[in-house]
Amino acid sequence: MFLSTRFVPAGVLCVLVFVGSAGCACEEESVDGPTWYQDVAPIVSEHCSGCHSPGNIAPFSLLTYDDAEAVAGWMAQQVEDGLMPPWGAQDTDECATAGPWQHDPRLTDAEIDTLVEWSANGMPEGDVEDAASVPSPPSTALDSVSATLAPDVSYEATGTTDELICFSLDPEVDSTVWINGFQVNPGNPEVVHHVLLFADPGGLSEAQVGAEGYYPCFGGVGLNSATLVGAWVPGSLPTEYPEDSGLAIEPGDRMVMQVHYHPTGGDHAPDLTTVDVRWVESEPQHYALMSLQGNASSELGGLQPGPGDEGEVEFRIPAEAQGHTETILAELGIGPNMDVRLWAVAPHMHLVGVDMKISVVRESPGPNENSQECLVHVPRWDFDWQRIYQYDLPTDELPRVEAGDTLELRCTYDNTLDNPGLVRALDEEGVSAPQDVYLGEGTLDEMCIGGFGAVVL
Ligand code: HEC
Repeated sequence: MFLSTRFVPAGVLCVLVFVGSAGCACEEESVDGPTWYQDVAPIVSEHCSGCHSPGNIAPFSLLTYDDAEAVAGWMAQQVEDGLMPPWGAQDTDECATAGPWQHDPRLTDAEIDTLVEWSANGMPEGDVEDAASVPSPPSTALDSVSATLAPDVSYEATGTTDELICFSLDPEVDSTVWINGFQVNPGNPEVVHHVLLFADPGGLSEAQVGAEGYYPCFGGVGLNSATLVGAWVPGSLPTEYPEDSGLAIEPGDRMVMQVHYHPTGGDHAPDLTTVDVRWVESEPQHYALMSLQGNASSELGGLQPGPGDEGEVEFRIPAEAQGHTETILAELGIGPNMDVRLWAVAPHMHLVGVDMKISVVRESPGPNENSQECLVHVPRWDFDWQRIYQYDLPTDELPRVEAGDTLELRCTYDNTLDNPGLVRALDEEGVSAPQDVYLGEGTLDEMCIGGFGAVVL
């Protein structure tokens, strides 16, 4: 279907006519506009090949001219619509965030134009002899690894239903260490869609593990005490905590690795995904932590009155509701006179969610601060591509929070069949029509929660 946008302008006609013929006498210089070798290949290599290469998570490779030529119209459409590469955080009318994001994979407008024009011009190949250099991808390895944590057992992802599986990992430390970076090594990159890593104080996750050596965990890792350490998607560079900061791990603590498997039918080799972790053994200057806030019910407080409440304030997304919002206020529990900076923010909902915005509301804003600052807005929520968004700013320019400040999480849901996420959740649960959705951990429950990476200055 994507070939319909393809047409052959006069300038490149001879290139196409003579494809495969040894005697092509085309003048490559006659090709106006972008070509594969000169313009497109470097963009695709930088922005797409981490996933679109043989054996990786994307369903097709884009490494060669032939690969890309076959799907050029589709590529152009996906990048124009902002769907590829997958990335949710956007600056919008209601959200201007503090600064650029680390590892932002998005294309510039000029790069998008190049792909669109290349496709519209009939995908000229250009001159391989004069190809632009394709930068080799940056190393995805973590420096100075302290330990590689591996599950005891591998996991075989089969069928076509996505699964979230938790592994309880033992960092085996005999004194306190401070984690300041990690990287995930997917065992079978064909099926490992994304990974969340948690710290598990007291090692409670061990008791959750069944005879198989892991436990299923769709909504969370099943422990209130667990704190998020970071997230990984295919092709990611290592997560690095702010300079001279670290997250404490005590003897007896464990780590939980939640793997989202995306099997596509047929046989997939077993997966043994491991995590490289780096820590320091002497106390860093700054404490880093990742606090989970949100998911408030009327009993816990923080949940704001919203549409559809019947009587008391409740977290309920009525069946057939579209654009339904739940708003939650939370506090980070910061002591007086503490200077705390937010270095990362991670919105989280399930499959009924469609839009999520997180802000900080300041009690006494400083001279250059707004009383309300948007931290992140994901206007097109996609459960499959959730991330931890990390600001690319020096520590002292990161958004500041202090005692009395409030975090505001606004989650928007679509509980109708117009929402492909809901269709998938109903399908997975064998339910035929939308039903009221409440707070919970199941596929047909919802969440409105954020991970807040904080560092104490
Ligand atoms: C982080 C991994 C990743 C990156 C980076 C990425 N893709 Fe994808 N892409 C996928 C996956 C996985 C799919 C399969 C559909 C899905 O799961 O969303 C996909 C699907 C597609 C599709 C088919 C659309 C569809 O609905 O199935 C196109 C076209 C595409 N990608 C183009 C690109 C282009 C062009 C780039 C670079 C500019 C890119 N992708 C970067 C992972 C990625």
